[in-house]
Amino acid sequence: MTRYEEVQSALKATPRTWLVTGVAGFIGANLLEKLLSLDQAVVGLDNFETGFQHNLDDVRSCVSAEQWARFRFIEGDIRDLDDCRRAVAGVNYVSHQAALGSVPRSLEDPINTNRANIDGFLNMLVAAKDEGVKSFTYAASSSTYGDSEELPKVEERIGKPLSPYAVTKYVNELYADVFARCYGFNSIGLRYFNVFGPRQNPDGAYAAVIPKWIGAILRGEPVYINGDGETSRDFTYIDNAVQANLLAAVADEDAVNRVYNVACGERTTLNELFDGLANAVEKVKGAAVQRPNYRSFRVGDVRHSLADIQGITSMLGYAPSILITQGLRQSVGWFCP
Ligand SMILES: NC(=O)c1ccc[n+]([C@@H]2O[C@H](COP(=O)([O-])OP(=O)(O)OC[C@H]3O[C@@H](n4cnc5c(N)ncnc54)[C@H](O)[C@@H]3O)[C@@H](O)[C@H]2O)c1
Repeated sequence: MTRYEEVQSALKATPRTWLVTGVAGFIGANLLEKLLSLDQAVVGLDNFETGFQHNLDDVRSCVSAEQWARFRFIEGDIRDLDDCRRAVAGVNYVSHQAALGSVPRSLEDPINTNRANIDGFLNMLVAAKDEGVKSFTYAASSSTYGDSEELPKVEERIGKPLSPYAVTKYVNELYADVFARCYGFNSIGLRYFNVFGPRQNPDGAYAAVIPKWIGAILRGEPVYINGDGETSRDFTYIDNAVQANLLAAVADEDAVNRVYNVACGERTTLNELFDGLANAVEKVKGAAVQRPNYRSFRVGDVRHSLADIQGITSMLGYAPSILITQGLRQSVGWFCP
């Protein structure tokens, strides 16, 4: 039995109460589905700034009526400390996903990114500490590696941030660390590397590359690659991020107050990604996909990203269950049923 299987059966045998912030978003909704499918009680907090009711409706259609009845949704804002306190009341495990994502959004609107990602984060830390929750897991980011060119990225060595978004995610780590030192409040940060999969928003200026390209390809619109296409990322299928959250929530004492890379430990260039997606769509649709268009590099983007996943593997028992090819197939299948 893997560690993840063990954790899932233990949770099923002894259900807990979880708070998932950002529950109407991509990662939050997928986490909600997994937790409800394990008969957990879940409180969800979201202000729908970038999340959607349709993500919650979709989760509802994937679980039983009995499981859905264990979900309580609070429409509220992490920038409001009272909303955070209301949400953490009576909760055992917090999984804090709410934030304003996207590097370009943060370049255009650093103030609002800061408010949600730093003020909101601090509110959640204070509320969770005062409530005495059992564990606090939060969404950190691979953007914290900034201008470091070292590959693979190892948790202990980071560079200078390349965007306001990256600053906010690094500040989260600093606050979490200080709360451990000053108040003995334990937490785990998960540095996600380009998570993708079902329920990720394909629309709008700030959409992530995979859902954006799948959407464009399916609509027959051109796909744009920023730069020469040799930029690379460690693309991580959503199930692996969900796994990391569950493992972190029940981590042993010696594994807390650390950050972990959440990735597959595989590097894929944008050119390879386009080919993989085009193949997957061609298989489903039976029609040829147009070649991509190249344009200039985007400010704030790092050139290469690849995670070392030894830390999370050895400390939390993480093992990515779905690698990129299968993940792309499953995503295309979801966007194009
Ligand atoms: N998706 C990735 O590849 C990736 C990579 C690194 C880090 N992250 C982090 O993971 C977390 C989840 O990302 P996602 O991809 O699911 O994004 P998402 O935008 O789909 O989800 C974020 C959710 O948070 C909610 N939210 C935003 N501001 C809020 C506020 N003030 N109060 C309450 N709710 C608020 C949004 O409405 C949304 O539902 C974020 O913290 C993000 O920074 C994601």
